[in-house]
Amino acid sequence: MKNGINMDFFKPKSPPLIGVDISTAAIKMVELSKNGKNLAIERYVIEPLPKEAMADGNINNFDVVSEAIKRAWRKLGCRTRNAALALPSGAVITKKITVPAGLRDRELEMQVESEANQYIPFALEEVNLDFQIIGPSPATPSEVEVLIAASKKEKVEDRVAVAEAGGLKTLVMDVESFATQAAFELIQRQLPGAGQDQTIAVVDVGATMMHIMVLRNGQQVFLREQAFGGNQLTQDIQRRFNLSPDEAEIAKKSGGLPEAYEPEVLKPFMESLAQEVSRSLQFFFASTQFNQVDFILLGGGCGSIPGLDEVVANRTQVSTLIANPFLGMSQPSRIKPRQLLQDAPALLIACGLALRKFES
Ligand SMILES: Nc1ncnc2c1ncn2[C@@H]1O[C@H](COP(=O)(O)OP(=O)(O)OP(=O)(O)O)[C@@H](O)[C@H]1O
Ligand SMILES: [Mg+2]
Repeated sequence: MKNGINMDFFKPKSPPLIGVDISTAAIKMVELSKNGKNLAIERYVIEPLPKEAMADGNINNFDVVSEAIKRAWRKLGCRTRNAALALPSGAVITKKITVPAGLRDRELEMQVESEANQYIPFALEEVNLDFQIIGPSPATPSEVEVLIAASKKEKVEDRVAVAEAGGLKTLVMDVESFATQAAFELIQRQLPGAGQDQTIAVVDVGATMMHIMVLRNGQQVFLREQAFGGNQLTQDIQRRFNLSPDEAEIAKKSGGLPEAYEPEVLKPFMESLAQEVSRSLQFFFASTQFNQVDFILLGGGCGSIPGLDEVVANRTQVSTLIANPFLGMSQPSRIKPRQLLQDAPALLIACGLALRKFES
């Protein structure tokens, strides 16, 4: 550096990092950039995974998954191999605790470990433990809230290893629900009043799972997962029209199914999806002090089903929007706006992970 002066206004650029979501149906990668306050989506890819490569958030077939990561990264066409990954929320125990403000690092660590000891059902040596100070406790200003996250080491190691075999270097290991929340914060700005004082449900319906998270003023107030997803629709298509799983999956996305498909297969699926959402909301009301939600945001691959927002809104009587974290971001001409619009709901987690690039 010239004269050894530290010129603050030449802040180092965010180190390169891509968000990588290793999920049941696909490997998804997103790269974002930032110019001042403006975000841009630079690149993304959705590389399908064969059935059974992943199961319940676990890597079932290591080689198949690592090969798909290699292919996805090549298609992404970006130089960095630095990645932010996430663990499935179910593999992570999180807990919020409050401790006196102003503890020294070592004291805080000891507090966290002793708290963790009480509720983590494994020996601490088997566990990756992490914590983050959230801020002053709303109730008692002399205390701070700390979020603890713990996961079995092998879960972390499996993901890091498969990413490495796929040519990636893991710099960040996040949790899927936190990544969804980070993406949500972008979407929230699109809502009336930027979502302030609103109770908002983010419903991510993927291939196998439906994740429901309810947020209010930046806090997760409810989290639930249900075994329900787009694979059910694929199976219905297979059965009804006598197709192989792959044929059914392709036909579902590209159309060309017989006329009976919409009324007899698709509509009933959409109805039962809406019913699952409604049930989860009932469960939310029954188990918390809340008795209404103001908005539903639909994410996950099933969020791309045309008209699903309307069916869910009708069933739940709640305003429902398709979750698109990229709305308002600039995009290079290599990304086709219509394709991105279609893919956006499935990219919530990958987008949330890509945002980790901008942390300092
Ligand atoms: N345009 C579309 N129309 C209908 N279904 C679609 C469309 N696009 C994707 N899907 C379905 O969405 C599902 C994949 O969604 P997503 O990518 O969110 O799943 P995932 O994150 O891999 O799964 P999970 O979260 O269960 O691990 C598949 O069942 C796929 O068929
Ligand atoms: Mg998913």
